[in-house]
Amino acid sequence: MHTPALVQPSARLEFGDFQANGVMGAAKALKTNPRQLAEQVIAQLDLEGVAHKVEIAGPGFINISLDNDWLARALESASANHALNRRRPAGQPDTVVVDYSSPNLAKEMHVGHLRSTIIGDAVVRVLEYLGHYVIRQNHVGDWGTQFGMLLAHMKLDGATDQAHLHTRLADLEQFYREAKQRYDSDPAFAATAREYVVKLQGGDAECRRLWQAFINESLAHCEEVYSRLGVTLTHAHIKPESAYNDDLPQLVDELQSRGLAQESDGALCVFLPEFKGKDGAVIPVIVRKSDGGFLYATSDLAAIRYRVRELQATRVLYFVDARQHLHLTQVFAAARHAGWVEPETSLEHLPFGTMMGEDGKPFKTRSGGTVKLIELLDEAEQRAYKLVSERNTEFSEEQRRTIARAVGIGAVKYADLAKNRTSDYIFNWDTMLAMEGNTAPYLQYAYVRIRSLFRRAELPDAAGAALQLSEPAERRLALKLNEFDDVLAVVANDCTPNLLCNHLFELAGLFMTFYEACPVLKAEDAVKASRLRLCQITADTIKLGLNLLGIEVLEQM
Ligand code: ARG
Repeated sequence: MHTPALVQPSARLEFGDFQANGVMGAAKALKTNPRQLAEQVIAQLDLEGVAHKVEIAGPGFINISLDNDWLARALESASANHALNRRRPAGQPDTVVVDYSSPNLAKEMHVGHLRSTIIGDAVVRVLEYLGHYVIRQNHVGDWGTQFGMLLAHMKLDGATDQAHLHTRLADLEQFYREAKQRYDSDPAFAATAREYVVKLQGGDAECRRLWQAFINESLAHCEEVYSRLGVTLTHAHIKPESAYNDDLPQLVDELQSRGLAQESDGALCVFLPEFKGKDGAVIPVIVRKSDGGFLYATSDLAAIRYRVRELQATRVLYFVDARQHLHLTQVFAAARHAGWVEPETSLEHLPFGTMMGEDGKPFKTRSGGTVKLIELLDEAEQRAYKLVSERNTEFSEEQRRTIARAVGIGAVKYADLAKNRTSDYIFNWDTMLAMEGNTAPYLQYAYVRIRSLFRRAELPDAAGAALQLSEPAERRLALKLNEFDDVLAVVANDCTPNLLCNHLFELAGLFMTFYEACPVLKAEDAVKASRLRLCQITADTIKLGLNLLGIEVLEQM
């Protein structure tokens, strides 16, 4: 019989460092007295040198207190790896394909793309740090009927050469609005737009050239956002929807010949009985329209097949808005039914909630328009610049700019990452830029404070000193520092960067408690060296943790 040991950090100090709560369940299953069973477990337990105290509490909890020396040595060796920022080899590395950011290129990136981009990038960094092989896929939307409208607008405007187009598309959002207005009000224009869609899909050279020119401009906008945000996506990670065009006719044939797709009102659909609407009728996945055109779902099917077969993914992660959950689960199921995905390959939709304004409605500009991402980032830096300048007048202009960039962008990213991924959250400048609370500036400042300690001590760092843990505040800090790798493992598995944020926040809090309780620079030699090393490990951990979240640290702020 197997029952889990259920070991976890103790809820309260008096229960030791860890508690094992599994005995109660085991005793129940064995129909025996839990306290007696706990005694038997302890008799078998070999924690010589690891724990200095093992006790039974209550009906059969086992409380474990770690040996100070063991804890110190464990932390010394873990921190040696962290300080080197070493990618630790995972026991069994996964090949993880990560689909994130993936904006539509017809419009400019807006706040709706922020969460996917930021959360996806943090998870990618953690996975890579843990030694997994990660393949980023930016599944940008570069295909579909909107492009007919945009091409027609380019053509009528004479914005057909790259230089002219570059100026016209400086405000992509504006260009899109104009095209849409024309499309809605001018039937002749709408007819031309539809004609262009057909031509484009038919491979007409002129239309393809215009389309490519548009796509290049639009991608340049995205890349500007990526570089401002400091996300690790590059041009090489772009695998647009259109990349799958040539696979689609054959893919659809295969679905049909396997009896998975049927004609319905002229369209070709996959009906899977596990997806029923409220009325009990199956909600189909349309893979080919009656006019022969393919859809979003069709290219997503082709993408799965490519990711599993060509890229050899063992895990495929989709950081996509919660509203696309049905779409993705249907596409996953269809791909499995078609036999393109092995049962052991994991397809995971990691949904996220919506970013809300103060009014509790989806985040908009004052006039009700969508907020361009690039403008949001400008505002973040401006606000941070103002705060830095007010707080500290000694910094040069250049220093202020550098600090404002790290703090402003960091604050926006952290505010998003720190929230439970699946809930909606309210975007608030003041909370995210606050120096108190679970924010980027708070952690960045905690780092700065530790670094300034070393400057005052006129030491570069405290590498090498032996740790001695005697004060309760030292032990608690050390225990927290020792949890770091476990936290990362959970973040990688559940794609929940908020757990890393919480961990760093708690760590910074325990550091402050330690720092108040235990003098560092005034302590006698061996204790001072040990405490400096604890400071060092804390700083390294905060830096590494923030780095894994895609957030910069500063030496001063
Ligand atoms: N382009 C889509 C959008 O902006 C997101 C694509 C997500 N990835 C995917 N494989 N469907 O809504």
